[in-house]
Amino acid sequence: MAAMSFELLKTSSDTAARRGRIHTPHATIETPVFMPVGTQATVKTLSPEELMEIGAHIILSNTYHLHLRPGEDIVQGAGGLHGFMHWPRAVLTDSGGFQVFSLSNLRKISEEGVEFRSHISGEKRFLSPERSIEIQHALGADIIMAFDECPPHPADREYIYNSLLRTTRWAKRSKEAHHRTSQQALFGIVQGGMELDLRRFAAESLVELDFPGYAIGGLSVGEPKPLMNEVLAHTTQYLPADKPRYLMGVGAPDDLFEGVMRGVDMFDCVLPTRIARNGTVFTSTGKLVVRNAGNAKDYAPLDEHCDCYVCKNYSRAYIRHLVKAEETFGIRLTSYHNVYFLVKLMEKIRVSIENGTFLALRKQFYDAYGYNEN
Ligand code: GUN
Ligand code: ZN
Repeated sequence: MAAMSFELLKTSSDTAARRGRIHTPHATIETPVFMPVGTQATVKTLSPEELMEIGAHIILSNTYHLHLRPGEDIVQGAGGLHGFMHWPRAVLTDSGGFQVFSLSNLRKISEEGVEFRSHISGEKRFLSPERSIEIQHALGADIIMAFDECPPHPADREYIYNSLLRTTRWAKRSKEAHHRTSQQALFGIVQGGMELDLRRFAAESLVELDFPGYAIGGLSVGEPKPLMNEVLAHTTQYLPADKPRYLMGVGAPDDLFEGVMRGVDMFDCVLPTRIARNGTVFTSTGKLVVRNAGNAKDYAPLDEHCDCYVCKNYSRAYIRHLVKAEETFGIRLTSYHNVYFLVKLMEKIRVSIENGTFLALRKQFYDAYGYNEN
């Protein structure tokens, strides 16, 4: 039996928005979906029980980090990520092909793979398509990613072209190294920088290799949002309608709307948990810096339109106090609310696609949040 299947339930008539369902060994995932990020086998400050209560059905984790610490053999000894972190639902692991470029030191890239120094111990390490897949087999996620190179932005066309040819060869090697096809689904990753024709070429080359799903990488790397959206729309049109599409590392509230309307089914982003740790939360009327003095005597919830556990029970004044006093509970509360906010927003987006009211929901959300529609 295949590790994963995708049901396309509905495509919007006025945008490329899609409503779908991904079946994996550990969970059925309603799409479009936002995946909370658990880089170190934990979504920072939240327990698996809290993530389930929030309504998350899939989380993301990282090959690069878990390989360096604690090592994939230790995770495998616990029965993989699901057993190790006590998370019964689905997991997706990134391949390390992005983190090795953004986090490690002294990278040396060759046809074979990437030699680098660990950002933790300084030790020399080597990652290749084969190694990445072997590590991801040990980690045991439901969905795993091909080993890719995400070129920096800006980069010249020549570099982007050669990099994407190599990424395509690496995708083929990733696929050949992937034998656990009955338990884990391997996605290819489309690169190509901001070059529209290279994006098309990358997408078509990967589609020829026939993956069960396709990710779009190399976006949100410092380019302006209109450019990201243009590249995104141009890329999704060359991907098969009957396979899920995953936009990597993107997930501000407006990015979710813009991505969904260009045909994206899956998103992940550290944003909700990262801003939570410095005392900032999403609300239906825009971001709120809870730690600001103005909230000292504000006994209202973080967001009056939110029905999460935090908003039902705690005030801005209390959470501000905890954050200011550096009490851990404060950032647990802001993290819980922020992850809930995005998971719930996706739920509303799914309902709006079913009802044919996606664009109306987008306008309503943008008006209240303070985004400009374009
Ligand atoms: N996460 C965000 N962008 C990327 C990308 O381009 N490649 C990979 N592997 N992970 C990412
Ligand atoms: Zn809330």
